[in-house]
Formats: sequence, structure tokens, C-alpha cells
Amino acid sequence: MIQKYLYGVPFDTESVVAPIPASQGDPPVGTVKTSESGFCFACPLAEGDRVYGLGEANRGINKRGFVYVSDNVDDGLHTENKQRMYAAHNFIVISGQQNLGLFFDYPARIRFDIGFTRRDWLEVTCERADLALYVITGDSACDVVKQFRAIIGRSYIPPKFAFGFGQSRYGYKTQADFEEVVAKHRQAHIPLDMVYMDIDYMDHYKDFTVNPEEFPDFSGFVSKMKEQGVRLVPIVDAGVKEEAGYSVCDEGKEKGYFCKRADGTDFEGTVWPGWSHFPDVLNPEARAWFGSQYKALTDCGIEGFWNDMNEPALFYSPERLKAFFESMDELSRKDNIVQDEFFGKVVGGALGLMNAPEDYASFYHNVNGQRVRHDRVHNLYGGNMTRAAGEAFACLRPGRRTLLYSRSSFIGSHRYGGIWLGDNASTWAQLLANIQMMPNVQLCGFLYTGADLCGFSYDTTPDLALRWLEFGLFTPLMRNHATDGSRMQEYYRFADMLPALRKMLRLRYALLPYLYSTFMKAALENTSYFRPLGFDFPADPDAREVQDQLLLGEGVMVAPVYTQNASGRHVYLPEAMKLYRIRSVDDYDTELLPAGHHYVRCALDEVLLFIRPGHAVPVARPASCTAQLDDTALTLWACPDENGSARCRMYTDDGETSDFAAPEHWKTLEA
Ligand code: GLC
Repeated sequence: MIQKYLYGVPFDTESVVAPIPASQGDPPVGTVKTSESGFCFACPLAEGDRVYGLGEANRGINKRGFVYVSDNVDDGLHTENKQRMYAAHNFIVISGQQNLGLFFDYPARIRFDIGFTRRDWLEVTCERADLALYVITGDSACDVVKQFRAIIGRSYIPPKFAFGFGQSRYGYKTQADFEEVVAKHRQAHIPLDMVYMDIDYMDHYKDFTVNPEEFPDFSGFVSKMKEQGVRLVPIVDAGVKEEAGYSVCDEGKEKGYFCKRADGTDFEGTVWPGWSHFPDVLNPEARAWFGSQYKALTDCGIEGFWNDMNEPALFYSPERLKAFFESMDELSRKDNIVQDEFFGKVVGGALGLMNAPEDYASFYHNVNGQRVRHDRVHNLYGGNMTRAAGEAFACLRPGRRTLLYSRSSFIGSHRYGGIWLGDNASTWAQLLANIQMMPNVQLCGFLYTGADLCGFSYDTTPDLALRWLEFGLFTPLMRNHATDGSRMQEYYRFADMLPALRKMLRLRYALLPYLYSTFMKAALENTSYFRPLGFDFPADPDAREVQDQLLLGEGVMVAPVYTQNASGRHVYLPEAMKLYRIRSVDDYDTELLPAGHHYVRCALDEVLLFIRPGHAVPVARPASCTAQLDDTALTLWACPDENGSARCRMYTDDGETSDFAAPEHWKTLEA
């Protein structure tokens, strides 16, 4: 059952698409306090309650014991103390004696104290008491999530090539750079479907342009790559470079489509291109205009994009920079500066230039004729940039799927694109964070997701690259991405690991019939791709505690190794399962393991895949790209149930068009 409670005058975020009448009074499940100074929802947490959700957020699968803030921020250092990330996914599920979903449909900063101040207490607070609260009760956590997914609308479905492997690096600049990456993958017999183009492909970081010197015939280059089975996937940033004569800038200014200061002038901030304006993607007309700009690239044959810097990230504004320099000027004239001044004004002042709350409170959107201050709707910005693109593709590429994912997001933008988990680091802790975030982003509707494999910042190591791939090969979005200046980390560079890396990448392609079917089921039936063990085994106290194993679709459980120098790990099986210990699609051993606790060996070049009783996994022959994949010649890996039967429901389609409903897409395979 879903109930909706309205407080004050909520901003229409369009997160929820189903019409739900508002209930009177307050929800029976907690206490609500509203006042001039804000909104507070509170309820007790019973000893055994787990709290799932919040999507892209720090810490474990069970969020209990910390405080999380939805206030989208460009901060690439995700240490355990961080409360904010790139996204606002304000949905939680309390699972224990009861199963309760709470969705706080609110577009600005909101704080979730989940047993942080008091272990037995949940408190959700925000500054203004203008929001919709959805309360969902159900028989199980799965049921609550399913109901939630039904009211927020169908999750975005990418083209099939997006389930292949993609190579990326901030630093590829020239056509020769991209050609080399493709050639080296092919020479090393590593499958490849996409190469991502980071900001250097552009002409001076101007959105929707291509550096004409480096790419004299861009369309020709795009089709040449496609002939080799590779899609080029360019980045698009939120900030539009301020430059007279650059049509996107000129047009945006002329039509009034950029966010404005209080005095009506166009707000300016610095991001990669230098001084930039920010398209007012909350204004439907400006959103349609910004979306139409993607045509410059779709006309060249581009079929996929990643949207970035859309919190929106702000390095500094002219106002803030001036104030900082003035305060430095003042300090520089002093004979001595005390430590407080050094740390507060110099260090703090410089760091505080970035993503400053004062800046977010200094510009406005035009929402259907109403002026809305940005900080009041801050969390909707990135998702509406995704929406701009998603809505435009429906016109630019009718009937065809377009790859799209974003860094920043809110619940609602899951209908238009996927997300990647932003800038992570080459650490083992971040591999675990990737594992733990996946089920939570998925229950918030973001199915097409993944993290930068190997890690984005810092230098990766060959063993981390391999272990991360052994998890990444199961994530819908599988991309190796790194920052400029870090160790080069294309898989072909790790000579000693190459045979194992290659086998793992080929295994991904072999498993695509299962992974793609699971994704399509999740999208079309509001079920999950990844979910915590506690969802299927709520009565099993050991299963409820598991924080590092995931159920994957109907028939599989994964238990990745995420610690350095480990040659195995502890695995808990809530039921008997068949273990496939896989070195390659043609080289694996199997073992039927009883329910219970096990220490399972898993050498560096092995991956553990557990099949649940009664289920089968269709396995194809590996291919060099998705277009080459033959999903008619399949082997079945299976774990028969007590009647000796094992089956799977498989989904196939052309991978390009959007006719998902046809019943012939489905067939049942029996082992
Ligand atoms: C941001 C993105 C990262 C990208 C970089 C340069 O940090 O998160 O993925 O490589 O900008 O565009």
C-alpha cells in the first residue's frame, strides 16, 4: 500500500509518475514536525531493523549507523566520513518486523540520520516543510521496492552494445590516441564495444563541438570505428563556455536559456572550459533547446553519451574569487598571520571557492514563469540535464535506443539514463564501496550503473585491476576509466595479468545472455538486477547481515574478492548452491555447497559464481564485441533442484529498437 502525505507547497520534482491521491493527517508510522524552520520525520528503529536505500551513498548496504546528506556535490574523495555524493536518492526501506518504504520527494538538501545520533532512531530533516512523503508498506522489502519502482516509472534501457566493455581515460586527445586504444584491444584479443571520449575531444571544452584539427572528418571516424564494432561515446558537460561566436553560448544568452543572477544577468562560474553558463534545464523550453544541441553529435553517427559535471560543479564564481582575493590581499598586508587565519582564510578560503553554497543561492531558474532559486531545487539539476538529452533522443533518434548516463542524478532521472558512480579511487576500499552501492542504487530505479573499474584517481595495481574486473564483469555498465596523470590502466598494459584479464572480459561476453535477460526483467517487471541477500532470506539472521555478496537476478549469487593478497574469502550460503569457480568460460570447476558458512578458495585469476537451486545460466561463446555475439549457441550452467530440473527465462531482442513488449522476446530454457 502506498500513501502520500503533502506538506506545505511541494515543488513538482516529477520523480513520481503515478497519480496518487494525498492522504489526510500524518503517516501512522512516525512523527512529523513542520515549522518555519523546517521539516522533521522521526521514527524508532527496532534492534534488528536494516535500512536499505539512499542509492549512491557511502558506507554499507545496510545504511544504519551513520548520517547521509542528499546535497549533490562534485567531490571525488569518497572516504568513509563523507556524507554527500553526486546524487540525491531519497528512498529508504526499513526492513525488520515490518517492511516500510519512505520516499522524501524534496528537491534540495535533506539529511538522513539513520541511527547516528541514537542507534534506535531515524530522523529525516530538511530546511523547508514543502515536500511530499510517500509511505509504502508491503509483505517484504522486495515487495516495497517493487511498489516504489511502479510509481516512479520504468527505468532507462540502453542499447545492447552498452552491455559490452568500454575503455575510457581522461587524457585521450587525438584520433590516433583512440585508434591506438582500439587497435591494442583487438591485438590483445580483448573484447571491446565502446571507447569513451573525455573532454579533450572538444574544441576548447565547448559542448557539442569537436576539435577540428584532431578530428578533421569526425563522422568518417565514427563510422570507421563502428565498422570495427566500436562506438565512440563522447562526454557532455553542464557548463557552456562563455565565448562570443560560439553558437550554443550566443543562442542560450539570446533566448534567455541560462540560469540567471538576481539582477537578470546570466550567472557565470568556472568549470573545465573556463567561464561558463549553465543551461536552465528546469525550464522545459530551455531543456528542449539544450537537448536539441546533441544533434550536432548524433548527426555524426554518435549513439551514446555521458553527461558530466552536472551537480552542477562550480570551481569558482567571479564574486567568490574576488572576495577571496580581497581577503588574501588584506592578510598579505599583515606582519603575521595566526594559524586560525591560515587554515580558516587561506586554506579554507581557497577550498571553499569550489561548489560554494553562496553561489548556489545566487542564481535562479525559470520554472514555468516562476523564478526559483537554485539551492531550493539543487538536487534536480543533473537529472534534468539527463532528461534534456533523453527527451531529445526521442526526437533525434526515434524508435532507437541511445546510450546515456550521468554523474549527478535524482530519482526520476532513472527514466532517462543510467549513472556511473563518479570519481572513485584505485583502492580496495572503493572496490568494496562499488559492491555495496550497487543494490542500493538499483532499488532507487537506477539499473544501468557501474563504477570506474580499476579506480579513477591514484595509481591502480595489476591485482586490483583484475579483482575489480572480476566484480565489474557483472555490473550493467562496465567501463575502465582513469584520470589524467594516473598510471595508464588499459587492461592490455598489465602484461603479467593479461591472460587472466582477457579471460574475465571474455567471460563477461559469455554471460551476456544471462546478464542482459536479468537487466530486461528488472526494467520491464520492476524486479532487481542486484539485491542484498536479506531481501530473499529475511528470516535468516546470517543472510541479513551479509554486506559483501549480492544476488544477481533470479538464479545467481556473486561473492567478489575485494581484499589484496587474498586467495579466497568467507561466503555465507543461505541455501545450498552450486559453485562455479571460473578461470575462463572453458575452464572452471564446480562444487555443490550446502547451506552455511564456507571459506571458499578463489585464486587471483578466478571468479566465484553461485547458482541457486532450480536455476540455469545460459552461456554463449565469447565474442570480440556484442554485435558478434551468437546467443543461439548456448551452454547451460545449472544447479538442479530436488526434482532434477533447472531453468531460466531468457530475453532476446535486436538490442537497438524500443519494442520491448513482444512476447517472442522471452523463452524458457531447461537444463
Ligand atoms: C570529472 C569526471 C571524470 C572526467 C573528468 C574530466 O572528474 O567525473 O569522469 O574524467 O571530469 O572530464
